[in-house]
Amino acid sequence: MATKTQTLILLFPLFTLSSFINSSQADCTPRGISVYWGQSSDSEEGTLEETCKSGNYSIVMIQYLTVYASGRDPTFNLAGHCGSQDKPCTILESQIQTCQSLNIKVFLSIGRDVVGIIPARGVENKTASFIFDNFLSGKAGPLGNVTLDGVNIFTVNNLILQWDVIIRALHSYATPQKKIYLSASPQCSDLFFQRDINTGLLDYIFVQFYSNPACQYDRILLNSTLLLKSWKLWISKPELSNALVFMGLPASPGGLILSNGFIEADVLRRDTLPTVQQAFNYGGIMLYDKAADNKTKYSDAIKDSVPKSCTCFCDESFPF
Ligand SMILES: *[C@@H]1O[C@H](CO)[C@@H](O)[C@H](O)[C@H]1NC(C)=O
Ligand SMILES: *[C@@H]1O[C@H](CO)[C@@H](O)[C@H](O)[C@H]1NC(C)=O
Ligand SMILES: *[C@@H]1O[C@H](CO)[C@@H](O)[C@H](O)[C@H]1NC(C)=O
Ligand SMILES: *[C@@H]1O[C@H](CO)[C@@H](O)[C@H](O)[C@H]1NC(C)=O
Ligand SMILES: *[C@@H]1O[C@H](CO)[C@@H](O)[C@H](O)[C@H]1NC(C)=O
Repeated sequence: MATKTQTLILLFPLFTLSSFINSSQADCTPRGISVYWGQSSDSEEGTLEETCKSGNYSIVMIQYLTVYASGRDPTFNLAGHCGSQDKPCTILESQIQTCQSLNIKVFLSIGRDVVGIIPARGVENKTASFIFDNFLSGKAGPLGNVTLDGVNIFTVNNLILQWDVIIRALHSYATPQKKIYLSASPQCSDLFFQRDINTGLLDYIFVQFYSNPACQYDRILLNSTLLLKSWKLWISKPELSNALVFMGLPASPGGLILSNGFIEADVLRRDTLPTVQQAFNYGGIMLYDKAADNKTKYSDAIKDSVPKSCTCFCDESFPF
């Protein structure tokens, strides 16, 4: 190892090497556990900083930003955490920076709440521009001066906005120095999401294998046939061959009677993951959500069975 490092230093001027190191760090795409945070209170799910410091997650998705078909500026809803006059969400600025300093990616989740039914012309580009200015540019926004790592589109067969246009517009703000991670969480049954996948621009897909009896684990019959059948369809989409696909699961069983797709952690480890992890584009497990995980300690139970590696995508200036 030492010999190789020395050779590098001899062969390349230092400035080249250091700029490469910076850009490769910025472009290190983690696998692991991703989690939604934001829709409960600090006491139910912990603060953002506590969530990152737990060491259990590699991606935290802040949920959520409401977007308006009319083109009105999107609005934040962080429920119990912040947003009041005496507790503005700029309190999250330093917490986000702490997460990022721990190499945890922080994404903004949009799309769960889309208000309005008739989209105004150009609303997609306007929404993307608002998101870039307020959350991805480092300029002052509702979360302070932050540069979030990316955006997550959380869709429920949602056809009101053209998400592919939003994805392309967000991508147009990325630079060789600053990648903008683009991710989406379609439901496993979502028939309309293909257009968004066809952009070829998604780095991550966190498929929601829950609240969808047709493609989730059947906890009553303890049967994973439909889940694994659907998983195979998602991982084999050619447009996702350069993306990382996560299996999205509820972190707690939810209602008592109906199965929501929850899989006991030991069943997941023993029966499901051996098949799931064979996919070359398998990235890890997405959990919904931190408050539920707080109750069940699901992430703690599975974290040693989920890959943690980080793939560095190098730009063209990379000499090897
Ligand atoms: C949730 O997490 C917070 C912070 O880590 C902790 O203080 C709290 O006790 C947890 N709540 C439950 C119910 O586990
Ligand atoms: C994962 O989170 C749990 C609490 O949910 C905590 O007890 C544990 O220490 C965390 N694991 C790591 C590696 O930090
Ligand atoms: C945040 O950015 C604004 C400009 O967008 C600047 O005026 C302000 O000083 C910055 N605040 C901090 C704490 O860096
Ligand atoms: C939206 O932005 C894209 C670039 O991402 C551009 O090609 C398109 O013309 C824009 N659409 C409108 C309606 O402005
Ligand atoms: C599991 O479910 C599938 C399809 O729903 C069914 O064909 C299969 O027989 C079931 N397996 C068991 C062991 O019940």
